Amino acid sequence: MANYQDVYRNSIDNPEAFWAEQANLVDWHKPFDKVLDYSRPPFTKWFVGGLTNLCHNAVDRHLATRPEQKALVYISVETGAESSYTFRELHAEVNRFAAVLRDQGVGKGDRVIIYMPMIPEAAFAMLACARLGAVHSVVFGGFASASLATRIDDARPGLMVTAGAGMRGGKSIPYKHLVDEALRLSAHPPQKVVIVNRGLDKGMSLTAGRDLDYASLRDQHMDARVDPVWLESSEPSYILYTSGTTGKPKGVQRDTGGYAVALAASMRHIYAGRPGETMFTTSDIGWVVGHSYIVYGPLINGMTTIMYEGLPIRPDPAIWWKIVEEHKVNVMFSSPTAIRVLKKQPAEYLHKHDVSCLRNLYLAGEPLDEPTARWISDALKVSIIDNYWQTETGWPILSGMPGIEEQPRKFGSPGFPVYGFNLKLLHEGTGREVGVNEKGVLVVVPPLPPGCLSTVWGDDKRFVNTYFSNFETELVYSTFDWATRDEDGYYFILGRTDDVINVAGHRLGTREIEEAISAHPNIAEVAVVGVQDGLKGQAVMAFAVVKDASRIATPEAISRMEKEVMATVDKELGAIARPAKVHLVTMLPKTRSGKLLRRSLQALAEGRDPGDLTTLDDPASLDQIRAAIAQWQETK
Ligand code: PRX
Repeated sequence: MANYQDVYRNSIDNPEAFWAEQANLVDWHKPFDKVLDYSRPPFTKWFVGGLTNLCHNAVDRHLATRPEQKALVYISVETGAESSYTFRELHAEVNRFAAVLRDQGVGKGDRVIIYMPMIPEAAFAMLACARLGAVHSVVFGGFASASLATRIDDARPGLMVTAGAGMRGGKSIPYKHLVDEALRLSAHPPQKVVIVNRGLDKGMSLTAGRDLDYASLRDQHMDARVDPVWLESSEPSYILYTSGTTGKPKGVQRDTGGYAVALAASMRHIYAGRPGETMFTTSDIGWVVGHSYIVYGPLINGMTTIMYEGLPIRPDPAIWWKIVEEHKVNVMFSSPTAIRVLKKQPAEYLHKHDVSCLRNLYLAGEPLDEPTARWISDALKVSIIDNYWQTETGWPILSGMPGIEEQPRKFGSPGFPVYGFNLKLLHEGTGREVGVNEKGVLVVVPPLPPGCLSTVWGDDKRFVNTYFSNFETELVYSTFDWATRDEDGYYFILGRTDDVINVAGHRLGTREIEEAISAHPNIAEVAVVGVQDGLKGQAVMAFAVVKDASRIATPEAISRMEKEVMATVDKELGAIARPAKVHLVTMLPKTRSGKLLRRSLQALAEGRDPGDLTTLDDPASLDQIRAAIAQWQETK
């Protein structure tokens, strides 16, 4: 077995040789001429001149070696549906979907928005886009129409793919209806909408000339064969929107060849999954984890992937372990919040099934606290691997790498830098590297390794300004996370440096939520902070200034107003961003120059010292906040 230190050093000292070797893990229609082009920092091009296709690598290339192996297993505990597709069947379905899209004029470079629940057709649609060289943008189904419209207007898709409805916790989510509303709100609506009707929404109606029923189009293309469109390695494969400091989501743009290689390498070195084995990732296709480790990663690696629709505790809290046993899952990927949810359930559910097939359980998306890690590790007797990464990177930055070398793990730490990531911890003010156990901003010295974002969709300037302009001393990519490194080289992530909050592993921007709340006609001003939460990591808390105080004169009126504000967030952004608590106040704590003291607000809400308040303009504002929090804590 290799040695982590040697592999890591080699990846940093000889990146071109290192990545040229990894590139052998995927098929190239035409070999690349140059491994790396970094002539225009910080823009990075990997495998220049190489032609490849993600769908070919995920599907077609396995037809020769494993046509009858299951490629995708679908389990919905919401509808009771279960189905599976071999690589041969997956190939046929993806060709059908691609033929349908091609018939509607979708071709190379065209954008397609996919707004879908967890059904196999969502994966077929993604792979079909990749096959055609079209750029998909999957929007998480928990986002409301207005958020969807913002993404439509930024990506300008020619076509959208959606489903009639989805189900979550037994409740129906009317996707098609939400799309209709989004198209009404958007300035650049797509010409066509392809709808997969699951029969869940009986009242669904189609708009003639725009809406197309997928089932009948598929019938016309049962034997379709659509050749993969070969893309130059740097051509975009997809856009995935994510939150940042501003209210406007950023379209993270991913390349094709670099992503294929990065995923193939990660499947081997980090996830240690072998072709023919099974991977179960419990995320959603709307998030980066779903893109990389439900759809593309396992399939590129010739593994069976499990696609799951449902919560971790229905029909009972043993459901995931039942799936692990029945489908002989070897590699599993989930989130700390999901494990904390399971931890609250009776312990017997953990021992109902034989999970000895499971080698490693990977957890990512938010800090993994030590008690949770220890609990699940002891209960399942599998090793727990904390991985740290971001939508922007597409694959892990810090992780255990059992495919390279088994290393001792420290609970609470995602471990060591992954090969390819040249990391530093910089002092926020001076830009100098911090010492052992000292807090700094985690940065990556460019060029970024393959698979990371190549730019922000349509906005190269924003890419440079957002990610590469945080330190005057050197050109580095900022992760916007605080971290420390201990004397043994283990990293510890301490939370975001910007105004991004993380609720149950879902990344939300405080500005976005503030803008949503401001849409309420009686709210003059609002501040949103993330507050520590035992289950979800963080919870959204809003402090809102009411325009007309007579509207909150009685306790009933206050409660009504709070509900209205929450409903506004549901409508504008989606229920995932709904505040756990809305405090109604008459002013917010600001400095004399008018800057909101957000960190002090957050500290107070978490019961901590609010820090330096010498710049505070009006002390009465803080008294109100203190009173509101005290009252809330009493009623909690
Ligand atoms: O703050 C870090 C946190 O989640 C952010 C990225 O979220 P997202 O773009 O949704 O990508 C998730 C990909 C797994 C990071 O900036 N984060 C992610 N993983 C961890 C984490 N914080 C602590 N520990 C982790 N393992």
